[in-house]
Amino acid sequence: MSNTYLVKTLKGLEPVLAKEITDLGGRNVQSLRRAVSFEGSKAMMYRANYCLRTALRILVPIREFAAQTPQHLYNHAQRIPWDRYLDVDGTLAIDSVVNSHFFTHSKYAALKFKDAIVDQYREKYGRRPSVNKDYPDLRIHLHINHDRCSVSIDSSGESLHKRAYRLSRTQAPLNEVLAAGMIILSGWDKKSPFIDPMCGSGTIVIEAASIASNQPPQRFREEFGFMKWKDYDEDLWESIKAEAWQKVVPITAPILGSDMSGISLKIAQENLLRAGFQKEVRLRLKNFSKLPPPPPGPGVLMMNPPYGERLTPENILSLYKMIGDQLKQQYPGYAGWIISSNMQALKHIGLRADKRITLFNGPLECSFRQYKIFAGKKA
Ligand SMILES: C[S@@+](CC[C@H](N)C(=O)[O-])C[C@H]1O[C@@H](n2cnc3c(N)ncnc32)[C@H](O)[C@@H]1O
Repeated sequence: MSNTYLVKTLKGLEPVLAKEITDLGGRNVQSLRRAVSFEGSKAMMYRANYCLRTALRILVPIREFAAQTPQHLYNHAQRIPWDRYLDVDGTLAIDSVVNSHFFTHSKYAALKFKDAIVDQYREKYGRRPSVNKDYPDLRIHLHINHDRCSVSIDSSGESLHKRAYRLSRTQAPLNEVLAAGMIILSGWDKKSPFIDPMCGSGTIVIEAASIASNQPPQRFREEFGFMKWKDYDEDLWESIKAEAWQKVVPITAPILGSDMSGISLKIAQENLLRAGFQKEVRLRLKNFSKLPPPPPGPGVLMMNPPYGERLTPENILSLYKMIGDQLKQQYPGYAGWIISSNMQALKHIGLRADKRITLFNGPLECSFRQYKIFAGKKA
């Protein structure tokens, strides 16, 4: 049986996600705002949860209706046969996003919606499922835009950016979904060298290793939302995992990470160990200004330098100037990719960007820029 699925992602990564879904076998793939929809079987939904790198969560829309008052919302919610999705003794959580002048209090809308669900059970069974915000058996999404309400159930559970390799946190780690999206956007061929000279906790190099080896990004996750659903098919899930593992290949590209902070590098080391890439990714404690020349190009250098919140303006500008100088002098044949929210500092790179892509690092609007370094530019 085919279903429609709604896959959430970060703003700017919709085309990357759409391509990932198409490559995985999704049908009727459509890019939306911060989401992509597709049609596919239950097997495809399991595969998407296991293999998509730029997905945050995969929702199954179950009902759409118009409502302008909390009572309307209650009435519509009561018409959904909830025991098809959740046993009376199970637990539920409701996530709501409300963008409507009809429902000015989003918490109240969600509460009314929950009341409708539990009242339905009470009337039918004399008891009701309880709420568990963190680990529910069924996570329900209520999205209200103007008077359009859509209800979906969440097949992923915890957000898919959590790959379970990161236990230690540095100050400003990139979201794993953003890091994977950036690597895919760069068009890295997975064979030539890949370098992050300001690797912090190692997110970019770990995602690069995962991409190069074709390892499923969710290989460490043991729980997905769909596993608690009534129609969970364990044999199908095992076969999807086995199918994905058949595509895993050894890494041949040199993947190098470095950072000038010993603490960050130690955390990167721990994360690499958990991710199982401690042999494939080489780490070094070095200031980028002193980093020895890389393997000959072509290659990709990608970095997420400080944006300047904790540095003085002069220091941040000279840091970006040093980045530009290093690129010009040491990286002929490389494509340098830099993400930053500091547009002023980016100007001090002193190179013309060939590509500029707008991405969001949390709430920060960033420019993700490619600087192609031609051999002739070598000093
Ligand atoms: C925003 S953080 C990078 C976070 C990283 N992408 C992650 O996911 O954890 C910036 C990093 O640049 C490093 N850094 C700043 N200036 C540097 C320099 N001149 N050479 C090498 N590393 C530098 C900092 O130590 C910090 O770890």
